[in-house]
Amino acid sequence: MTITATMVPHSRPFIETDELQTAIEVLRSRRLAQGGMVEQFERGMAAYFGLAGGVAVSSGTAALEVALRAFGIGPGDEVVLPSYVCAAPLLAIQRVGAIPRVVDIDLETFAIDPEAARQALTSRTKAMIVPHLFGLPADLTALERLGVPIIEDCAQTLGAMEQRRIVGSVGLLTICSFYATKLLCTGEGGMVLSRDESLLERVRTLREYDEAPSLHPGATNVKMTDLQAAIGLAQLNRLAFFLERRSSIADEYRATLDGTELVKPIVPAGRTHVYYRFVVRMTDLHNQVNGVSTVIARFEDRGVQCRKPVFRSLHRYLELEGFPASEEAERTALSIPLFPSLTDEEVAQVHVALCSEWA
Ligand SMILES: Cc1ncc(COP(=O)(O)O)c(C=O)c1O
Repeated sequence: MTITATMVPHSRPFIETDELQTAIEVLRSRRLAQGGMVEQFERGMAAYFGLAGGVAVSSGTAALEVALRAFGIGPGDEVVLPSYVCAAPLLAIQRVGAIPRVVDIDLETFAIDPEAARQALTSRTKAMIVPHLFGLPADLTALERLGVPIIEDCAQTLGAMEQRRIVGSVGLLTICSFYATKLLCTGEGGMVLSRDESLLERVRTLREYDEAPSLHPGATNVKMTDLQAAIGLAQLNRLAFFLERRSSIADEYRATLDGTELVKPIVPAGRTHVYYRFVVRMTDLHNQVNGVSTVIARFEDRGVQCRKPVFRSLHRYLELEGFPASEEAERTALSIPLFPSLTDEEVAQVHVALCSEWA
């Protein structure tokens, strides 16, 4: 598919003078690999979450893998995760040799269903990966009651609150992704954060092996570069503005779609949404396997690139059955472009496309 000059893309990073200047400064310093910028970025992110520290790595996927290893998860251990999410959590569990226990979601919030998670617990359950999807916190309060260590996956959610707690500050370990489309981006990149210094120290021994007094068999090279970290720091300084802009665009979309049959993003009491994605559900597509693709094609004709928010539910990779909510989400969910660098003209173009489809 080709994106025309007038096409509103599904996402686009916000890169302006601060990011450009800081990247040039790092290039001029000739200090490109992991160094002082990475340390500053780690401290900045840890302060944002109110945690003891962070360990920057090369991607969110790598962060998940080293987080699991640092927590001592390996062959024979079970890790619970939701089906409706990108493949990274599943791959990380498989790479450390543990057993994934995939469970269904709560359709309203797209997050792991606490009751389904409870039913999947066994004596071998060592942890639960809890992604906060599309900018909305999962039901951390209900999940905490299960008494299983939580690894919060904040790849899609930064700054949202659950019962007055910032997401990422609740679990034993937290991971972030700074991929190009994310709330805060460094191109590729990730981080593991925790309040537990000993876990962070183990993550540090896993992310690099050079000059280590002894070699951990899981050690690898998943370091972040100073160039990436410098861009990340510039983005972190603007995060509050990014979230404000996202929230005001979400308000505009809500106003446009008011009165339509669509299920708009739901924000349960006690939680806030940061609109990493604006995902609607088209309940009339309930019985159609390719309904979402047809709608995406119509939006493309109108110059707006929409997407299925999750490519494929994980239970389908594993050939499992009995995941009605994840399958319903796959058949009916559509993500509409929402990112802080959208111009007012582009928002107006999306508004016109939304009205042509639904209003
Ligand atoms: C919920 C979630 N977790 C983890 C990841 C993996 O992050 P990365 O792409 O940086 O490896 C993603 C990426 O899309 C994600 O959406």
